[in-house]
Amino acid sequence: MSKLNGKVALVTGGSSGIGLATAQAFVNEGAFVYITGRREDELAKARKQLGDKVATVQGDIADFDALDRLYAKIGSEKGHLDIIVANAAFVELQPLAAATPEHFDKTFNTNARGTYFTVAKALPLLRDGSSIVLVSSGMNVKGYPAYGAYAATKAAIRSFSRTWAHELKDRGIRVNTLSPGVIETPIIEVQFPDKEQADGARTMFRNMTPMGRMGRPEEMAAAILFLASNDSSYSTGIDLVADGGITSL
Ligand SMILES: NC(=O)c1ccc[n+]([C@@H]2O[C@H](COP(=O)([O-])OP(=O)(O)OC[C@H]3O[C@@H](n4cnc5c(N)ncnc54)[C@H](OP(=O)(O)O)[C@@H]3O)[C@@H](O)[C@H]2O)c1
Repeated sequence: MSKLNGKVALVTGGSSGIGLATAQAFVNEGAFVYITGRREDELAKARKQLGDKVATVQGDIADFDALDRLYAKIGSEKGHLDIIVANAAFVELQPLAAATPEHFDKTFNTNARGTYFTVAKALPLLRDGSSIVLVSSGMNVKGYPAYGAYAATKAAIRSFSRTWAHELKDRGIRVNTLSPGVIETPIIEVQFPDKEQADGARTMFRNMTPMGRMGRPEEMAAAILFLASNDSSYSTGIDLVADGGITSL
């Protein structure tokens, strides 16, 4: 039997990369999936790929009105949620010596505050027994130059999952984190818009990873499916690391 038969799921940032692969895995396992993102054209492309078990909702996770619209739509169409994958985030590199308040605020408002309220505002819709998966990053335990604000938001996300797992346990809601290593998605070009730079970064990431390669979005989707489904029924508050060994070896 399919692992998510009849479940209603939300994947923020479901139009690209890890989120898109996760939405595909969920649809394959019988779920109805809401995906979000800021760019309508990317959402439309994803919808075409994923088929009619998917609905798209345009919006920025940093925008409260957009979150309210999202949950009003899910509430009126399905009445509840069984799974949330809080995956949407962005990366902007800035070393401490070049610090700007704009960079700090944008990074924290999107990745940390956006994730916090994505889950907080969903609580009335979440059924008892639901599963919440927060997408952190192996960066949450590392100290790579120029990733200071981003890595700190990912450490915040890892921390949220522990507190929320405790707070929601009496409703049977499990909360876990996935910490990916370096995964081949469009986020690489977001960080390194120049092609030569992006290729150089890929070589550097491969060399830094003990398994000698970058991860694939489908490998992250498989790990998220494990956390979202009953296969992980005795796990809550954990950080599942899927990173080719980069943070442990
Ligand atoms: N790829 C990696 O190496 C890696 C490693 C560790 C952790 N991660 C984490 O994995 C998650 C997914 O990353 P990815 O690599 O799959 O990146 P991606 O391909 O760039 O996808 C990011 C998704 O999030 C959406 N998004 C970005 N900012 C948003 C916002 N403010 N509001 C709503 N949606 C937003 C994007 O759509 P729009 O741009 O249209 O909004 C897109 O759908 C992120 O949390 C990232 O930090 C990635």
